[in-house]
Amino acid sequence: MRRLTQINHLDAQPSDIEFSVVGKSHKHESADKQVSGKALFVDDYPTPSNCLHAAVIVSNIAKGKIESTDFTQVESSSGVIKLITVDDIPGLNDIGPIFKGDPLLSDGTIKYHQQPIALVLARSHRQAWQAASKAKLTYQSETPNLSFEQAQQQPHLLPKNQFGASVDLDSLIESAVVVKGELEVGGQEHFYLEGQISLAQTTEDGGIFIRCSSQHPTEVQTLVAEVLDISFNKVTVDMRRMGGGFGGKESQAAQWACLASLGAHLTKGSVKLRLPRKIDMSATGKRHPFFNSYHIGANKHGVIEKAHIEVNGLCGHSADLSGAIVDRAMFHSDNAYSLGDASIVGNRLRTDTVSHTAFRGFGGPQGMITIERAIQDLSIKTGQDAYSLRLKNLYREGRSTTPYGMEVDQCDMLLEVMQNLEKSSDYTNRRAEIKQWNNSNLVLKKGLALSPVKFGIAFTATHLNQAGALVHVYTDGSVQVSHGGTEMGQGLHTKVAQIVAQTFGIPLDLVHVSSTRTDKVPNTSPTAASSGTDLNGMAAHNAAIAIKNRLLEFAKEHYNLDAEPIIVNGRFETKDQPVDWTHLVQQAYLKRISLSSSGFYKTPKIWFDIDKSVGRPFFYFSIGASCSEVTVDTLTGEMQVDRVDILHDVGNSLNPAIDIGQIEGAFIQGMGWVTNEELVWNKDGVLLSNSPMNYKIPSIGDYPKQMNITLMDKANPEHSIYRSKAVGEPPFMHAISLWCAIYDAVASISQHREIPNLQVPATGENILQACLAQFDAIGYTRDEAEVDNETIG
Ligand code: MTE
Ligand code: HPA
Ligand code: MOS
Repeated sequence: MRRLTQINHLDAQPSDIEFSVVGKSHKHESADKQVSGKALFVDDYPTPSNCLHAAVIVSNIAKGKIESTDFTQVESSSGVIKLITVDDIPGLNDIGPIFKGDPLLSDGTIKYHQQPIALVLARSHRQAWQAASKAKLTYQSETPNLSFEQAQQQPHLLPKNQFGASVDLDSLIESAVVVKGELEVGGQEHFYLEGQISLAQTTEDGGIFIRCSSQHPTEVQTLVAEVLDISFNKVTVDMRRMGGGFGGKESQAAQWACLASLGAHLTKGSVKLRLPRKIDMSATGKRHPFFNSYHIGANKHGVIEKAHIEVNGLCGHSADLSGAIVDRAMFHSDNAYSLGDASIVGNRLRTDTVSHTAFRGFGGPQGMITIERAIQDLSIKTGQDAYSLRLKNLYREGRSTTPYGMEVDQCDMLLEVMQNLEKSSDYTNRRAEIKQWNNSNLVLKKGLALSPVKFGIAFTATHLNQAGALVHVYTDGSVQVSHGGTEMGQGLHTKVAQIVAQTFGIPLDLVHVSSTRTDKVPNTSPTAASSGTDLNGMAAHNAAIAIKNRLLEFAKEHYNLDAEPIIVNGRFETKDQPVDWTHLVQQAYLKRISLSSSGFYKTPKIWFDIDKSVGRPFFYFSIGASCSEVTVDTLTGEMQVDRVDILHDVGNSLNPAIDIGQIEGAFIQGMGWVTNEELVWNKDGVLLSNSPMNYKIPSIGDYPKQMNITLMDKANPEHSIYRSKAVGEPPFMHAISLWCAIYDAVASISQHREIPNLQVPATGENILQACLAQFDAIGYTRDEAEVDNETIG
């Protein structure tokens, strides 16, 4: 019997829950405002009177010392009010989020190209940046370490760590099939549409009120307070929405917020700091480039028995979040496969660039693509189709423990997702057709790959898995919700509003989620690790439950009912007549029942023993599979995505439209990472790919010719909010099947006899080189190729 649950849904079985508001494709709360230009971003708010505009003077070298500074022309430049250097900072000149080592302004040492050295305040944005360009600086320059090889020779940023007992590499060589290789994995620019921005105002108490585009308002609050040497309670951060964050505003929104606040504090006024795109692209961290190696031993059937994997993240000049990012790369070096005896080693290398940071997947993609590449190699070594090898190696009953000791409880679902997708994508027939195509076409080669994704949900730093919310019911029946999560386009506020409406049993339009504010919900975690809804949705649910229980108890007595009433769509039945929600709320108010509550949630079950490197770092895994087909032009290296099929598990979907949007967006963003998005630094440590002119994200023409996204409709066996699953990051990694399909197309040149030298990203140049190497290996020169006229497009 399906019924509307009355009390905490956690007490109910998933099948007991009848969804009237959650589970429906409600429109994103900001959709109309965003398409009509009415949604306010930080730059859209009216500035306070006399607001100043800030610009940063940045370093022209990547490594060394400042020898001399001459700011006279800056200070005399039109509109300039004040120049601020490191000596003007009242408090701490360090904004490292976990480990220290991130100066707000250079103290004379230069650690990366475009490092902020001083702050200019002027009457207008343009005047500030014009003035900043007039600084005259001389440096004692040193040669920056940029490459993996150079970085390996330097002391690491953080200690190395390992999961699993060391595998005996000598015995590994005795395996029936050995696969050994290295994979270079490129980084990625976040390319949020709204760049880094903050508007800071001093308050009458010498505090600061900041609007800023940040995934982590609490961290902005605490770092601003430390920089200004004031107490945390004097700083309030207000965050309505970001025009995208993607991890780039988890720790790295703070610098610009602190600089704007410093300017406001020192002038006792208001300061806005907005980075021009080129400065944003070169002065903020990116996805970490990785240099990984894999050494795998399988039996003659292709079942992996032993593995040793090493992941090396290039972190830039400071630790930032690199400890946890390399951890997550290690946690995902198995992807969905049991590796038998496995050791996984992680290194965090220092390079003289900006400090790399969180980016959708948080190291997971870089770990996962390495094992997927190893499987592709194994397919070449064994002559078996990569899909059948993947099936054989999936976690399964009896082989369900990860290298870090966590059980994969839903290994059945891994197999189910793979097999369902195999059928719905018609994999087997298409594989045969592609084989035939490749046998009869010299120039255009097709590739196909079907691969799984298993992504761990929870912050790996256990203490971050907590959230708070504040819910008020007003006497007109409307509800206001504040919670610790931030809206960056992912639909968090829409989902939280649905959750609260569902919990109360009222229509969605009665619920409003306000901007995220540190004075409403304190001590929050970043909105990251895809856990925004899991954490804040549950905290808001708990707050709503507390109010609802008071209301139900009151209603039972007030209306003389035998049992607590069931509120559906804002009404409930009494013996005489139906009563509506607003009336109930008003009666309760008159009887002095509190209509407000905070709510709190902490994720259960998770733990991790850092010394032993074992535990259950994740509450559950999000699971999915994707199948990609590509055509590669072996004469030019051009590539086209012919078809993508994705089957993805979001538990009970809270909002299918938003979930499918997240899956689609994540895949396309992942497609950019594995294909065209290439970061290029020159030997001086200058980022050459510093603008949309020289850094190419996917455009509409790159969209797959065919794209099918299906949600796996199965309740989360764990007690997550309404049995849903997190969706933000996991589908990013479906793009790995696209990379594998390119690998497959290139390898078809040698009839899958030679391992292609394909790196990540597989840019046109990289694909072409890999094709040429294949032609070389089979003793076929390009001149001999009978060029048919068929080309892509
Ligand atoms: N979707 C949009 N539209 N914009 C974003 O910036 N960030 C992604 C993902 N989806 C992002 C997005 C990242 S990196 C994360 S961790 C999650 O959203 C964070 O939000 P959630 O935890 O509420 O899913
Ligand atoms: N994921 C994303 N962001 C984080 C994490 C994580 O595991 N830990 C700290 N910040
Ligand atoms: Mo997402 S990289 O966890 O902000």
